Amino acid sequence: MSSIAIEPCVIVIFGASGDLTGRKLIPALYDLYRQDRLPEKLCVVGVSRTTMTDDQFREKMLTSVRQFSAHFDESKWPEFAKRLNYHTGDAAKLDAFPSLTIKVQQLGRERGMLKQGDMPNVLFYLSVAPSLYEPIIGNIGAAGMVMEGHRWCSLNPEAMPWQRIIVEKPFGTDLATTVSLNRALGRVFEEESIFRIDHYLGKELVQNILVMRFANTIFEPLWNSNYVDHIQVTANETVGVGSRAANFYDEAGAIRDMIQSHLLQVLCMVTMEPPSMFHADAIMREKIKLLASCRELKESEIPHSAVLGRYTAGPKNPAYIDEPGVNRARNTETFGAVKLHIDNWRWSGVPFYIRSGKMMATKLTEIVVQFKKAPHNMFARISPEAADRPANRLIINIAPREGISLRIEGKVPGAGLSIDSAKLDLDYLQRFGGEVIEAYGPLILDAIRGDRILYKHKDEVEHGWRIFDPILHNQALRSQIHDYAPGSWGPAASDALISAGSSESLKRVWHNPVATEVR
Ligand code: BG6
Repeated sequence: MSSIAIEPCVIVIFGASGDLTGRKLIPALYDLYRQDRLPEKLCVVGVSRTTMTDDQFREKMLTSVRQFSAHFDESKWPEFAKRLNYHTGDAAKLDAFPSLTIKVQQLGRERGMLKQGDMPNVLFYLSVAPSLYEPIIGNIGAAGMVMEGHRWCSLNPEAMPWQRIIVEKPFGTDLATTVSLNRALGRVFEEESIFRIDHYLGKELVQNILVMRFANTIFEPLWNSNYVDHIQVTANETVGVGSRAANFYDEAGAIRDMIQSHLLQVLCMVTMEPPSMFHADAIMREKIKLLASCRELKESEIPHSAVLGRYTAGPKNPAYIDEPGVNRARNTETFGAVKLHIDNWRWSGVPFYIRSGKMMATKLTEIVVQFKKAPHNMFARISPEAADRPANRLIINIAPREGISLRIEGKVPGAGLSIDSAKLDLDYLQRFGGEVIEAYGPLILDAIRGDRILYKHKDEVEHGWRIFDPILHNQALRSQIHDYAPGSWGPAASDALISAGSSESLKRVWHNPVATEVR
């Protein structure tokens, strides 16, 4: 994301035999290597309890990289594989750390990366079950692996090694667990060294929202309650939960898994005030200010401001409640729709609707900015059609394909005055070329540079829970989970949620494009 130099380091991945390491992390590092974007000396130590040699780990990773890298080039593998190392150990126990420290030191020496204190730069990556986060963080600290301290104010910071940590989501399960995790991290790492990852921030178009808003002059003057009627953020998937229910999803649900985390970040990008510069501190400050002004809903308001749903059985899928590992007593939702308000000068009175579901009609991640109607329709008397034209609407597509489209009204060429809607369409890949890259690689590079622009500050995640905890724990809401058919747009109650309170002339409805309209 930035031009800061990339220093070599040892990446220590906890949870190296797990799914994320094989499916995302090592393939992403391999792709960076293939594109010549990894620092020459950088290497990896995978840590987990499974007993494996370096060579066995490399073999295992080869299978994953073949399957999950963007493009596998056999000739590049042998050199890349030499950078992969493995350490057997239970990171939840302190006694795994002395030998791990020696291994990291050894790799630093062999590769000429040692700095003051005989240690190389180290990037820790927590790719383990969330219950292990705090014990592992505590052990990293107790083992003396973090020497950073006052590196930022030292006379010669370059001579001192840095230690940073990337923490995967879920980042806590509610406000209390998140505060506890932030405190555990804070006891060992400086806030500047903590990288709370959200892969949505690595998506091209989420970053592009900043460029669209702040590198152009034509959007910002309209970007407020004077012109915007409401904003929708949607992230729908056609897949169900399947075997993920057992080890993760059933304890999370749609609100925790997607809305509280990814979509709230998207909302920040769309609604925050202009940062003064493209720098992590400036951007994080604006996101925090925005989240702080997000209204906390009262208990009695919640049942009218949110809808939960759960997919039923279809020709090709069991009902969610019959998926393996689902505990019916948890009453987990696979669809959520929420209406939020931002209590500040810019957005006062503008509702924000956020929804996300599994087993939906189509894979779609997008933002819809619905503008108000023109204050006066001078064409109203020409014909009934001219009297009731739709208002402008800007759609920012994030997935399946990136682009923006603006609906405007135009005169149909020919005699007489007939008005119809048309779209100004920009498909980013078609216009600019380039390749879509997996979000993980660039995000890891940013962490190695120490660039937190695309990461989350502790206050952001805490505000996220402040807003969503009351919704998640609202009994009236949870006791009323609506069924929806797989392949639909979710429960009818979510249509009622968005249309409630809208005016006759501009009725609020979800943007549910038919498959052929999806970019
Ligand atoms: C993950 C969620 O964070 O994001 C998954 O845990 C979800 O449930 C995924 O499927 C969606 O990501 P993307 O990039 O496909 O929109």
